Amino acid sequence: MLKFTDKIICGDCIELLGAVKEPFIDLVFADPPFNIGYAYDKYKDTVKSKKYIAWTKDWMGACANALKPGGSFYIAIGDDYAAHVRLLGEELGLAARNWIIWHYTFGQQTKTMFARAHTHILYFVKDKDNFTYNDHAVRVPSDRQLTYNDKRADPRGKMPDDVWNTYSRVCGTFFERQKWHPCQMPESLLTRIISVSSNAGELVLDPFIGSGTTAAAAIQLGRKYCGIDISDNYVDNTRTRLRNLKNEIRKKDGSSDIFNARETLEIKRLFVDMSIPVKEINASKKLLGLFAQQFGLRMNNDKAYDQKDIATELLEYSAWR
Ligand SMILES: C[S@@+](CC[C@H](N)C(=O)[O-])C[C@H]1O[C@@H](n2cnc3c(N)ncnc32)[C@H](O)[C@@H]1O
Repeated sequence: MLKFTDKIICGDCIELLGAVKEPFIDLVFADPPFNIGYAYDKYKDTVKSKKYIAWTKDWMGACANALKPGGSFYIAIGDDYAAHVRLLGEELGLAARNWIIWHYTFGQQTKTMFARAHTHILYFVKDKDNFTYNDHAVRVPSDRQLTYNDKRADPRGKMPDDVWNTYSRVCGTFFERQKWHPCQMPESLLTRIISVSSNAGELVLDPFIGSGTTAAAAIQLGRKYCGIDISDNYVDNTRTRLRNLKNEIRKKDGSSDIFNARETLEIKRLFVDMSIPVKEINASKKLLGLFAQQFGLRMNNDKAYDQKDIATELLEYSAWR
């Protein structure tokens, strides 16, 4: 499907994907407007509940139509419609695998209720017996390894829980923030989903590409991408974002730096996932050893990485934690 591959397309995802004759997508990540009054430039984010639910069914159906038989489908959604999405998935014949809570560590301040600080991510597959799941790419060191020195610990680490609490919301002041879009998913959250549920060279679709985060993560992980948005403005800006990113990767990979762009991304991702301050990791032979081991497992190649180089790379993130 050359028309869609490595493209950011301006249009309505329901029309574009509903017309597809042959499924060609390996992984869908969808973060639709939540119907909570966000100020998008073209889409009006307050519609009657009934209309929103019917629209949700339409776009979910269009995505499922384009998804290959072994494909996976992740949907980010707010409290008000999470249950509807779960049921609509079933209605469309999808198999539910996880109901993930992304706890984004701090919410917007409120006076009359508890501050909302989470989003639901519903994870479906098209065929419950046939799907990609690269567990090695997302495992993290376990408490048995980190704290208890327990010999029973699996040396490959443990699977993360279904409550994700190490990925902060992308606030206005963050370096990662694309200021021209009102809401943006963190790249580390997308890299977790893409690395576990797709393989290199496969095609990742985001039908509501917004600021382009899904495509940016897919490029860095060596996947193909397709992004759709109804706003020509967001599409133009996303194309620029991706062009700049591709140039940065080319520069990094052509430089004499020890780690290439992919390795740098994976070190950053593991650091975020482990949530331990750089100072603490670098001061402990055991922690640095576990970090290096997990990084090697995630890279899944035959390269031997030097712990000293990893410790130096980690210094880049000292200001974060
Ligand atoms: C919540 S935002 C997505 C943000 C994105 N995940 C990111 O990280 O930047 C939803 C996006 O859906 C777009 N949109 C709304 N209706 C659409 C439709 N029918 N087809 C394609 N895009 C649409 C909006 O313009 C908006 O950019």
